[in-house]
Amino acid sequence: RKRMVSGVQPTGAIHLGNYLGAIKNWVALQNSYDTLFFIVDLHAITLPYDTQQLSKASRNTAAIYLACGVDTSKASVFVQSHVRAHVELMWLLSCATPIGWLNRMIQFKEKSRKAGDENVGVALLTYPVLMASDILLYQSDFVPVGEDQKQHLELTRELAERVNYLYGGRKWKKLGGRGGSIFKVPEPLIPPAGARVMSLTDGLSKMSKSAPSDQSRINLLDPKDVIANKIKRCKTDSFPGLEFDNPERPECNNLLSIYQIISSKTKEEVARECQDMNWGTFKNLITDALVDHLHPIQVRYEEIISDPAYLDGVLADGATKAAAIADATLENVYQAMGFLRR
Ligand code: TYM
Repeated sequence: RKRMVSGVQPTGAIHLGNYLGAIKNWVALQNSYDTLFFIVDLHAITLPYDTQQLSKASRNTAAIYLACGVDTSKASVFVQSHVRAHVELMWLLSCATPIGWLNRMIQFKEKSRKAGDENVGVALLTYPVLMASDILLYQSDFVPVGEDQKQHLELTRELAERVNYLYGGRKWKKLGGRGGSIFKVPEPLIPPAGARVMSLTDGLSKMSKSAPSDQSRINLLDPKDVIANKIKRCKTDSFPGLEFDNPERPECNNLLSIYQIISSKTKEEVARECQDMNWGTFKNLITDALVDHLHPIQVRYEEIISDPAYLDGVLADGATKAAAIADATLENVYQAMGFLRR
């Protein structure tokens, strides 16, 4: 069976972008693949963070995965730092990563600009190498992510090919190894709709956990009145009717797209339904659709988070299964790179 892996950072509240761009897609695809979903806590410390909140955020994120429908009878769910091979492989990979590849990363440029020099740690630059280890350790075929991770996936692919070239194949055979490629080269799975959910207050910037205003995003655990209030106050325009794909109406396109996915309608259906609507009517429509869609997730979340023993069991089981796969890959890499093994 083909394998699929993905993860979300336990920083801030999980929002509609994370859900529509990633988690919802994981759930839709989990029956077709062998799957592992991690909570990337090691990625969450690349910018200043609250040590009092990290472990809680990791548990909450795991509970969100399950509440959204990740099925632990099919998928391994685990916390990245519980499987040590991630950090170990990262070191090995970073020795094969040209620094120019990392300097090119858009997310690094954006995040370092926002963070200010003092807060730009080495790890903010090397972050994509850790992400590559998360993926390559599991010999993954597919990685379902939102549009913003596309460049990191491209780097992961290039890194896999580079390591295969440097240490795999013929070279490895000559050293007495088994030969062949060390890593599978993974492919991103980016959903046709929802891959880039935009902010509610600015249709040109993406919905993000780190945006200062909570009004800019719908969090998966927002109660009904909060959702209603955010939609009521979100940015709109004064064109007549509603339409997709008008570059002058990015907010309109974003809200219609969100409505389309959560109501499971086609783009054509939504275009027809909303073409003559005014904002007031549409805002009621999308608020109800969001509340109806998120309510069952919120109910399940409360059940899961109030049963810590169950959650611990899921994470322990997930880490054990993941470590078995990860350790085997790591051992291969050490051998291919010529290390003395115990
Ligand atoms: P993170 O935590 O920023 O986001 C988690 C997932 O949500 C997607 N996403 C969005 N999709 C659509 N619209 C948006 N506005 C939006 N914002 C976020 C992201 O594309 C992502 O799929 N580096 C990753 C986490 C990571 C990872 C991995 C992912 C670490 N290792 C290995 C896959 C495989 C990140 O920071 O995602």
